[in-house]
Amino acid sequence: MPKLLETREDVELMVNQFYQKIRQDAELGYIFEEVAHIDWELHLPKMYDFWEGILLGTANYMGRPMPPHFRLTTKHTLTPAHFDRWLHLFFENVDALFEGDIAAEAKYRAYSIATIMNQRVQQVNAQISEEN
Ligand code: HEM
Repeated sequence: MPKLLETREDVELMVNQFYQKIRQDAELGYIFEEVAHIDWELHLPKMYDFWEGILLGTANYMGRPMPPHFRLTTKHTLTPAHFDRWLHLFFENVDALFEGDIAAEAKYRAYSIATIMNQRVQQVNAQISEEN
């Protein structure tokens, strides 16, 4: 049964389940595991802070979300389809766990950041193909 998204623990649950899905996903899993060789023990706490900041107004995330994705697309092209898939899994995961305003806000913020990130990543891709 979906519940309200209210606490840091809720954010951790959302993030843990989301990356569980991502890791198992045929379209995205290998990008995290085999291209980025992501260290989950570092990545997950960063993502708890990132989402807690956005949804609950705390200020623990001090990073910059965009640059790692620009670097990543130079190693393995990130396409609009990758971003669509990412968002699909994100929405599906939020809906399976939560309901209410903050759950809706999570989906809205994911949608807007993914839209901007995709646009900027596609600019990086275009630059790379001009150079080659
Ligand atoms: C195709 C979609 C995406 C892929 C494949 C992807 C992949 C990755 C990878 C591999 C990293 C780790 C990079 C590193 O540590 O070097 C990362 C970091 C991160 N991603 Fe994504 N990502 C995607 C979309 C998004 C979206 C839409 C958001 C936000 C809504 C997001 C938020 C973040 C944040 C906050 C970090 C941590 C950045 C930092 O180091 O401070 N990602 N992502």
